Order: sequence, then C-alpha cells, then structure tokens
Amino acid sequence: MESVGIAKKTWAFLPVGFFSRSIGKKLVVAVTGVVLLGFVTGHMVGNLQVFIGQEAINRYAAFLQGLGELLWLIRAFMAATLILHVWFAIQLKLENWAARPKRYEHNATVQATLSSRTMIWTGLLIGAFAAYHLLHFTFMSLHPEYKTLEDHLGQHDVYSMVILGFKNPAISIFYIIMMFTLAYHLSHSVQSMFQTLGLNNDQYDGGLRRLALAVAGILFVGYTAIPAAALLDILKLPAGVK
Ligand code: HEM
Repeated sequence: MESVGIAKKTWAFLPVGFFSRSIGKKLVVAVTGVVLLGFVTGHMVGNLQVFIGQEAINRYAAFLQGLGELLWLIRAFMAATLILHVWFAIQLKLENWAARPKRYEHNATVQATLSSRTMIWTGLLIGAFAAYHLLHFTFMSLHPEYKTLEDHLGQHDVYSMVILGFKNPAISIFYIIMMFTLAYHLSHSVQSMFQTLGLNNDQYDGGLRRLALAVAGILFVGYTAIPAAALLDILKLPAGVK
C-alpha cells in the first residue's frame, strides 16, 4: 500500500497533468502575460519614435523588417504565446463558471472588482483589435495605398502611414477606446500575475495595486499620445504626402 502512496507522490512532482490543473493553467497565463506585457511595452517605446521624426521611426521599422528570418521567428514565438495565453485563460474562466454554485454567485461577484470580472471580455476585445490592427498597419490590406508610401531614403514611410491613419477621427477614437480597454485589462492582470508567480503578499498588496495602475496608466498615455497628436495636428504629414 505504501509503495502505491509513494508512487502517487512521485507522479505529483512530474509535469504530467500539471497543465490540466488550475495552478498549471494559471502559471501559463501569468508567464505568457509577462511576455505579452514586454511586447506591448517595447512596441509602445518603438512607436513613440514618431515624435523624434520621420527618419527615426522609418529607420526603426526598416531595422525590424531587415531582421528577416529572425523577425518571423519572433512573430511565431509571439503568436504561440498569445494562443497559449488566450486558450488557458478561457479554460480557467469556463472552469470558474462551472464550479461556482448559483447561490454564491451574487456574493462572489460583489467581492471581485469590475476589472477582474471583465478580464475575459476585455481580453477578447484586445484580440479582435490586434487582428484589425494587423490588417491596418502590418498587412495594409484595409489601405493598400499605404504600401507605396516611401521616404527620401527609399524606406517604407511608416511615419506618414501612421499619421494618415490617425487623421481619420473615427479610427483615432477607436484606437483610443481600445488602448483604454488594454489599460483596463492590465490594471487587473499585472497584479494577478504577481500573485500567481508568488511575488505577492499582504504587506505589498497596496503597492502592487498601485504598480499595476501605474503600468496601465503609462501604457495608455504612451499609446494614446500618437493618435491624439495626429488628430490635433501636432504630428504633421511631410510636404507632398496627402
Ligand atoms: C497607438 C497605438 C499603436 C500604434 C501607433 C501602432 C503602430 C504599429 C505599426 C506602425 C505597425 C507596423 C510596423 C511595420 O510595418 O514595421 C504595428 C505592428 C504591430 N502592432 Fe501596433 N501599434 C499600436 C498599438 C498596438 C497594440 C496595443 C498592440 C497589441 C495589443 C499592437 C500590436 C502590434 C502587432 C502584433 C504588430 C505586428 C508586428 C509584426 O509582426 O510586424 N499594436 N503597430
């Protein structure tokens, strides 16, 4: 009998079945969340070069395109990270809905913050936005005319593409609403990531909540500055571009 018990304990330390347990799924969501947070931070910093000028942002975009196969490797890694994040987050949500007894539903809802209860919906909205955004600025399928924009160095004119895109108030407002959705999602998820990764305790609880709000606020302001500046004519199109 004892050997069976020991065998069971041994299995408990192996990764077999780990990812079918809640803790395993939470860990995947947290680790992939850290990677995605790194991406949105890096992407924002890269995009902010639009305020340095046309040459700076176009050179940066040309550098990324010049990575060639490495860029496709990074894209594949990011796509896999996103799929794992969404897949396990949906599974956790479904388990949570299935496990919650009806009579406690009201209490549990009252205790959880609005941002934590809406994580699944804000997350799905961000996913839909990312798909639209790829068609808008990466594949340019929605505006094939962007593909022919070139600066005086013969590089793809990402600077003019971004300003032309955001000169349209409907598109700018849509992006700003989506940036708010992203910030709202992060205001809960950054804190929740620390919790899952065991970097949280009662002593730091308030500090981590403030840190999560600060991260969300910085990303919202940094991203929103671009459509806002194009709309307010702070970012101007180069001469000859219409
Ligand atoms: C105002 C906000 C944003 C601006 C101005 C912006 C701008 C851009 C531009 C210009 C590109 C194309 C780069 C190139 O062709 O070299 C791009 C690509 C991309 N953006 Fe954004 N972006 C914004 C927000 C976001 C957000 C919030 C996300 C994530 C949720 C995101 C995810 C991506 C992804 C995944 C790509 C494709 C990268 C690649 O594989 O080439 N962007 N963005």
